[in-house]
Amino acid sequence: MIQENTENSLKHDRIKEKFISISQAITKGHGKVAVRGWVYRERGSNELKFIVLRDSSDIIQCVLKKEKFKNQWNEIDKLQIETSLEIEGIIKEDKRAPTGYEIEADNINIIGKSENFPINKDLNEELLGDRRHLWLRSRKMTAMMKIRDTVLNAMREHWHKKGFYEYHSPTLLGMQAEGGSTLFKVDYFGKPLYLSQTWQLHAEAGIFALEKIFTIQPSFRAEKSKTSRHLTEYWHAEMETAWENFDYLQDDAEQLIKYIIEKVLRERKQELEILGRDWKKLEPSLKKKFPRITYDEALKFLKEKKKINIQWGKDLRTIEEDKLSEMYDTPIFVTNYPKKVKAFYMKESSSKLGQAKGKETVLGFDMIAPEGYGELVGGSQREEAIEKLKKNLKTQGEDPSKYEFYFDTRRYGSVPHGGYGMGVERVISWICGLETIKDAIAFPRTMMRYSP
Ligand code: 4AD
Repeated sequence: MIQENTENSLKHDRIKEKFISISQAITKGHGKVAVRGWVYRERGSNELKFIVLRDSSDIIQCVLKKEKFKNQWNEIDKLQIETSLEIEGIIKEDKRAPTGYEIEADNINIIGKSENFPINKDLNEELLGDRRHLWLRSRKMTAMMKIRDTVLNAMREHWHKKGFYEYHSPTLLGMQAEGGSTLFKVDYFGKPLYLSQTWQLHAEAGIFALEKIFTIQPSFRAEKSKTSRHLTEYWHAEMETAWENFDYLQDDAEQLIKYIIEKVLRERKQELEILGRDWKKLEPSLKKKFPRITYDEALKFLKEKKKINIQWGKDLRTIEEDKLSEMYDTPIFVTNYPKKVKAFYMKESSSKLGQAKGKETVLGFDMIAPEGYGELVGGSQREEAIEKLKKNLKTQGEDPSKYEFYFDTRRYGSVPHGGYGMGVERVISWICGLETIKDAIAFPRTMMRYSP
């Protein structure tokens, strides 16, 4: 029995070996090749059929001559878009073909027929959303998903190189961390729980064991806004570290963005081009240091350069962040926001100005992307004083008794610490130059879109 299975799998491997990817076939550039994939486009006449075949690596034009396929011609003539095929033939350079090469087919094997594929260039965004499971096969979505893979790899590489451990927190929680207005409630055996907005509170417990940790996992926000930047379920890349200060957090966020861009530009230029992204716009972010300005300076610049007056104490809205980002060609950090607009866990600034009555500020920062892609990162130094945390929670209408486990992290050997969260789809949107964040994830979730 074992013998037989081994033989079968060896036979299967030998068959598999015959096929190479379309990009490998193009690299080979001459001689006999065997490829397989799906019909991307087709056209033809009585005598000739042109099939553009796609696989995950690329597309290639294949030409089929009737004289070679007399017995199969009827079937070949009726081939529909998205039929799956195996094709063997001779590849050669042909400048007129879409990717510069063409396969003259000797053999074709139809694997799975396709019905009339319900995707075409005239579909509006809504219909493409309904047919997302099929739209994923498009060249643009495929390119985005490859870049997404590279971005996630870059994140893991960056943190692992710096000695961070990957660590995970629960998704079902009994308390909020980022304000009650964006919480999703879940009926948990009759008790109310929430979907997590951030890993943070449970990450702060983790640093007492591992010191430097990161995660990449979904976060949930009941965002009613129908903007091009908000998802209700998004992937959140977060880090938390013991012992480090506010500057370290910003340094690390900047290094991470640079590392991601460097990797994407090295490995994914072809995909950026398929997406029509002018990747030269990313280069300043690789070369220049990201400016760091305080909230007070941001208000001053907006007033002087953009004639926008913001009352001290108000949070920066999307429109103001956009106006600010217009002044730079790299991301910028805005730091030391007013305490009253930020989360309860942020540490109060110790500078004289930051403590003035009614003008208290916190050691929190946002990193704002260039080109109007909004906030990429939010982070802070964490408050260590339990009494202050309790007071902040009460001011926000929260019951501090739900946070006892969190206060324990301050009771038993508290240390200076902090962290940040980066919106994975925000970063992908910016890097790919996407019009909407919905196209930075395979199956987006927004207020209006929750299927397929
Ligand atoms: O600024 P936020 O709310 O920070 C936190 O959640 C902290 N607890 C993170 C931490 O310190 N560990 O969110 C962080 C980032 C934002 O900068 C943004 O990029 C992204 O998460 N984000 C969203 N992305 C897509 N859709 C949404 N609705 C988002 N809300 C936040």
